[in-house]
Amino acid sequence: MEKYYLTTAIDYVNGAPHIGHAYEKILTDIIARHYTQRCDDVFFLTGTDEHGIKIQKTAQSKGVTPKELCDENSQKFKDTWKALDIDYTKFIRTTDDYHEKAVQKIFDKLLQKGDIYKHSYEGWYCQGCECFLNPKDLTEDGLCPDHLKKPDIVSEENYFFKLTKYKDAIIKHIKEHPDFIMPEFRANEVLNQLEDIQDISVSRAKSNVQWGIDVLNDPEQSIYVWIDALSNYITAIGYEPEIAAKSNNSENLQLQQTDTDLSPYRPIALSPNFKKYWPVDVHVIGKDILKFHSIYWPAFLMALDLPLPKHIFAHGWITIDEAKMSKSLGNVVSPTSVLESFNLEYPDAFRYYMATSAPAGRDGNYSDEDFKEKVNAHLANSMGNLLNRTLSMLVKYFDGEVKPEFKGENPLAKKALGTVQIVKNHFDNFEIAEAGQEIIKLVDTVNKYVQDSAPWTLAKEEKMTECGQVLVNVLDVMCIISSLIYPYCPNIAKSMSEQLSFDLKTKLDNLTADNIKIGKLISKEDIKPVFLRLDSELADKSSKK
Ligand code: MSP
Repeated sequence: MEKYYLTTAIDYVNGAPHIGHAYEKILTDIIARHYTQRCDDVFFLTGTDEHGIKIQKTAQSKGVTPKELCDENSQKFKDTWKALDIDYTKFIRTTDDYHEKAVQKIFDKLLQKGDIYKHSYEGWYCQGCECFLNPKDLTEDGLCPDHLKKPDIVSEENYFFKLTKYKDAIIKHIKEHPDFIMPEFRANEVLNQLEDIQDISVSRAKSNVQWGIDVLNDPEQSIYVWIDALSNYITAIGYEPEIAAKSNNSENLQLQQTDTDLSPYRPIALSPNFKKYWPVDVHVIGKDILKFHSIYWPAFLMALDLPLPKHIFAHGWITIDEAKMSKSLGNVVSPTSVLESFNLEYPDAFRYYMATSAPAGRDGNYSDEDFKEKVNAHLANSMGNLLNRTLSMLVKYFDGEVKPEFKGENPLAKKALGTVQIVKNHFDNFEIAEAGQEIIKLVDTVNKYVQDSAPWTLAKEEKMTECGQVLVNVLDVMCIISSLIYPYCPNIAKSMSEQLSFDLKTKLDNLTADNIKIGKLISKEDIKPVFLRLDSELADKSSKK
């Protein structure tokens, strides 16, 4: 694998980040970190989506300019991702100058090509979705089914994109590539939506939406937010159609003549980064915006003559105490408030909990009580204690020394290396929770081995070589476990690997069951618990509820 390029959805900045946004960034960060264990060049893109009527209105109601609102909230997203150890390569803002310029040219190129045309139109526009809704999709009361709000009637002369021209090609692509939309069960939904697809409006009158990118030669129109937003995936890595200078220079003339659609664009001079990273390996998005990513985006890409994404992975939604998160219900949970209320120095426990909260593509739930219970059980009791107890016994019985005779056939090796393969396969299907379960299953197997082999009894019986063998067998596998848990819990993994003198940078394919070096491994004072049980006041309060 030469490179791995992956992206998250870019978040609207009309509010602060909540744990739904965090869920997606955590999943993507985990996938990114997993692939750093399989390839040397991982590019992880995230960012904020800053234009559109929703942001314009929120800014108006707060008495600030849209740019001020964007600056303030975009920073909150960045700060939150830092607190959660989201290790992105690049953060794009759709108000970045280079992005705005590239989007104008992308729009103009599609216009020159004849894929965008002007048309008078009246329709139902939902601000929440930032799109026109088909009247047949409204509820009985005429509300948007997702936002339960009445859409605005909009009557404007807009630019339209010929989505219908690409309908058959998209259907064909989905049918021929069962791993294009993942999980696979979502592909049928998309195929159904494609049935009655129509051309879509791709601009709004500036008189109605001021906070948007101007159409290049028509400043009375601003570019539709979804063209602006989706293009971030290519502009961030350097895509920009290049306009040929209109001159009599023979070189330019020649270029124009060879261009079959007679557009003023040169054959695109692709930047080295763009050539290296596109097509993207996976767009990680929520199920609510699958239509935009699996219908609109492929059509725009086809119109730009660019290859399609390899995978689009749609995750489910996070509820709070089984209820939909919403401002009106007052149950919006901020990720940093969870870290604070549980007094967490590192985000590992929260990352682990969120990532394992739902099977791939399904909805998950957050509750304080469940959070505390699960991470105490998995990270503190099962995994953390296992390492702690084993190292403590090595110190107690052998002064922390690994002797050559402790090394031999490891009965846990097959299961441990088998788990590495299973975890890799799960990641190839974006089954992050399922991979997490496999890791904990391996931890349970090792715990059972310790229980069954009872090294404390072996020591009592003075079977010291056997006792040392059991401990080293466990520690060798703990190295593999630290590697597997790293994407979920980078700080815990670091602490584990340091105590094991194991190189966490070892690629998954180079893992073996022989990791612990012969000689002194650790002293008593260097043994540290890798994760302390959660017992904050808030956690206690909620568990008494
Ligand atoms: N700006 C668009 C995306 C443009 S991508 C080119 C948008 N923004 S959003 O802020 O509304 O949502 C950003 C991401 O967060 C989406 O993938 C969405 O599915 C996800 N989530 C928002 N609330 C969520 C939950 N409650 N649970 C899980 N994910 C959710 O859509």
